[in-house]
Amino acid sequence: MTAEPATQAESTAHVDAKIRLDRVSKTRMRDGAPLPVLDGVRFFARDGEFVSIVGPSGCGKSTLLNIIAGLDEPDSGEIHLDGIRPGKRLGQVGYMQQKDLLFPWRNVVDNAVMGLELRGVPKRSSRERALDLMESFGLAGFESAYPHALSGGMRQRVSFLRTVLADQQIFLLDEPLSALDALNRAQMQEWMQHTWLSLRKTVVLVTHDVDEAVFLSDRVYVMTARPGRMKLVLDVDLPRPRSLDLLTDPEFVAMKARLLSAIRGESVGATR
Ligand SMILES: Nc1ncnc2c1ncn2[C@@H]1O[C@H](COP(=O)(O)OP(=O)(O)OP(=O)(O)O)[C@@H](O)[C@H]1O
Ligand SMILES: [Mg+2]
Repeated sequence: MTAEPATQAESTAHVDAKIRLDRVSKTRMRDGAPLPVLDGVRFFARDGEFVSIVGPSGCGKSTLLNIIAGLDEPDSGEIHLDGIRPGKRLGQVGYMQQKDLLFPWRNVVDNAVMGLELRGVPKRSSRERALDLMESFGLAGFESAYPHALSGGMRQRVSFLRTVLADQQIFLLDEPLSALDALNRAQMQEWMQHTWLSLRKTVVLVTHDVDEAVFLSDRVYVMTARPGRMKLVLDVDLPRPRSLDLLTDPEFVAMKARLLSAIRGESVGATR
């Protein structure tokens, strides 16, 4: 395990990165007053890496993903996505937002294939690809169901399936498993690991679950309370594939303790 205060680990210019953020800052307006949300964020993910971000509620994690996805622009700082032209990020990144954005008038399969549809993949082959994955996503039997008839966890899985099917080089996942109970969540974490090991895409995961972050990641970033900055960067150099038995492994527990202590230092007094 290597853990570094973010001030040192943040100098990323030398890294051959798929995603690189340099001193990204963002201020919003609230009740007519400026609200600094992100303050000089530095972050990188190499091609094919799985990187997680944890931090107190309201520290700017979703804002950061919105910026990487091109839905929002920073006030200052740079974003570099390898292979994607500057300013052309929108639509080039697979993004599962925190709030599921399922269309109520589309059934499960038709919601899942939306990303493919937007890219002009013929309907029949996109539906076949979605149907092939229904079982693994725990959606078998619900292919024709509409979102109102699904549980919160199932809606999340449809949303997740849509992101995976969109088949981009970069996936941004904003708390993709938060609506699942512990058992389903553990199964999905294992499934996510195997999917990622076979696809080797670059993944940025935002999560509140420190076990999940360590279990899945090559590196975990801890953000400060708002305005969000990177406070700690922890490299997780545990061999893969990882089994959930790892959760009680002393090295795993030590990493978790390190992250929790950094997060705890931030949570007190954190407000949205
Ligand atoms: N469109 C907006 N207009 C004004 N303020 C906003 C907007 N979106 C987010 N904020 C504010 O920016 C801050 C960061 O929000 P953000 O959603 O990025 O936090 P977060 O870290 O994702 O939180 P959570 O863990 O609860 O999802 C919050 O104080 C929030 O109220
Ligand atoms: Mg959020």
